[in-house]
Amino acid sequence: MTGCLLVVGAMPAFAVEPISGYEFLTEETRAMQDDDFENPGMVTVDEGQRLFQEHRPDEEHACASCHGADGEKLDTKRIAGYPDFDPNLGGLVTLQEKINHCWEINMDRFPLTYDHPDLISLETYVRNRAKGEAINIITDGPMAKLLKKGEALYKTRYGQLNMSCNHCHIQHQGLMLRGQKLSQGQANGFPEYRLGRGRITSLHQRMRECFISFRAEPFDAGSEPFRLIELYLMSRGNGLEIETPAVRF
Ligand code: HEC
Ligand code: HEC
Repeated sequence: MTGCLLVVGAMPAFAVEPISGYEFLTEETRAMQDDDFENPGMVTVDEGQRLFQEHRPDEEHACASCHGADGEKLDTKRIAGYPDFDPNLGGLVTLQEKINHCWEINMDRFPLTYDHPDLISLETYVRNRAKGEAINIITDGPMAKLLKKGEALYKTRYGQLNMSCNHCHIQHQGLMLRGQKLSQGQANGFPEYRLGRGRITSLHQRMRECFISFRAEPFDAGSEPFRLIELYLMSRGNGLEIETPAVRF
């Protein structure tokens, strides 16, 4: 009977039906996200589209040659399933890693570093193609063990304040913290546009900011712990619609 319940230490069990960060926004910010002409994250979608269609003179392919000029041949259901498990790619694969893999193997380019601005733009473009698709992360088979690891990292206490992700985003969701309402910390809108920062932000950059906000030493972008936490976050959001590019504070 624990299917839809989560027990947090000695806390009483409560439902963990996923709620998008969108539900915690003001009317104005929601309207901004909903309108492609107002949504400042669409600039990054456009930049991603440019890279996606770019055909370099000395190269055989653009991304678009295999996936369609507007990405119409991309499998949006599969995009909603990232991070994915692929034994041929060493197990856990984030969407950024999949894109980087195509970049390297199918286009013969030198791979980009994790969170390179071009990768974030391509990720924003690709995930925007799957906007409205329900997140659907595999949770069984070889993924089950990885999810356990991700969950353990999520519940680990870090830094001098001795806090875990769990403290703010599960136990205290809905409370105000420094003028912001604590959401569940869902990942369905990434990469997302941050009004307070005035820029697009990848999920690993966001997690880094959370670590710094509770004065703990963050892991590196693309590191094993961040990829495992990403997996856990995305699976917690199974069923939520992809909102990329979401608009958040
Ligand atoms: C030579 C053809 C080719 C090129 C060029 C190519 N890809 Fe792919 N890509 C594939 C194939 C085939 C698959 C599906 C099979 C697989 O999983 O490897 C795929 C899978 C993907 C997926 C997973 C979702 C899906 O539809 O299966 C994404 C996302 C993706 N590619 C993005 C890109 C991006 C972005 C670029 C440019 C940087 C790119 N690809 C370049 C052939 C290509
Ligand atoms: C001290 C409290 C605190 C802790 C601990 C914390 N966060 Fe956050 N986090 C915030 C605040 C504040 C925001 C912005 C408002 C919101 O969406 O909750 C945020 C936002 C987020 C978001 C973006 C949500 C969205 O809808 O865009 C993600 C993802 C996230 N946090 C993940 C994490 C992860 C992973 C950890 C553990 C490493 C963590 N947070 C720990 C305070 C915290």
